[in-house]
Amino acid sequence: MSDAVIRAVIDTDPGLDDAVAILHALSSPAFDIVGIMTVAGNIGIDVTTRNAGRILAHARRSDIPVVAGSAAPLSRAGFDTIDIHGDDGLGGVSFPEPAVPPHADAVEWLADLLLRESAMSLTILALGPLTNIARLVLDHPEAAARMARLIVMGGAIDEPGNVGPRSEFNIAADPEAADIVFRAGIATVLVPLDVTRKVRASRSWTAGLRETGVPAAVASADLVDAYFQSSSGRESRPLHDPCVMLYAESPALFTLERLPIAVELETDDDVGALVIDDKDGVLLDVTMKVDADAALGLLARRLSGG
Ligand code: RIB
Ligand code: CA
Repeated sequence: MSDAVIRAVIDTDPGLDDAVAILHALSSPAFDIVGIMTVAGNIGIDVTTRNAGRILAHARRSDIPVVAGSAAPLSRAGFDTIDIHGDDGLGGVSFPEPAVPPHADAVEWLADLLLRESAMSLTILALGPLTNIARLVLDHPEAAARMARLIVMGGAIDEPGNVGPRSEFNIAADPEAADIVFRAGIATVLVPLDVTRKVRASRSWTAGLRETGVPAAVASADLVDAYFQSSSGRESRPLHDPCVMLYAESPALFTLERLPIAVELETDDDVGALVIDDKDGVLLDVTMKVDADAALGLLARRLSGG
């Protein structure tokens, strides 16, 4: 684990697992979170933006700006996953109201930030559809080129999808955006279902968080319990978005493969599926294995203030 603090912007559609990932980043000394950009995904932009503010208010970090982003994918209708995340996007878990109103226009805000900060000093932690990042690449390529790294929860390589047979939600929600972002030449690490489905919160792990009494840990336990409620009869729940922060903070827990990735755009039945395509794919670093026990241990430690 490198000791350098990761100066980062979180791009997110909170969302139960997004919320746990954000609480991890706010609890860990490894991160300096400069801002939270929101995108429509799990639920609409007004709800994801409100939830980002609620999570920051809970963590007493309303000094961090929330900047509202894209209300819809580039060129398609989005999905919503109200059945998983609930109609408030946080499974009904009690969070305070935002302490300060959000700013508008995440893409312009991020472009200004990237142009103002030293080049290659900012990491983007992307937890939702890639619409905001794609619009940055299209409208401000000179700013996008100054990103140090983009770490994306998305896709499925050998794992079945969670939207279509091979398509995963964040990519399938805006596949054109993912194609634009992956081909933009940004140093990108993809964190697909192949690893996120291995980092699973059990009932006992969740109870351990609650027993600490630490606010971020207790809130995360409430969020995971809500996640359990939205999917009856499961023994554990995959912590998709927290794997982005876990990779950023402790890459040695993951095994990377460099793969030629293409986004399926033409088909109707599984749009957004990722294809290994030696001819038309673009080489991306993809986390294909993870030490799940160590990852869960690090997440629990950080949420509990360690
Ligand atoms: O497929 C998992 C992803 O879709 C996660 O980011 C989750 O929050 C949903 O957005
Ligand atoms: Ca998400």
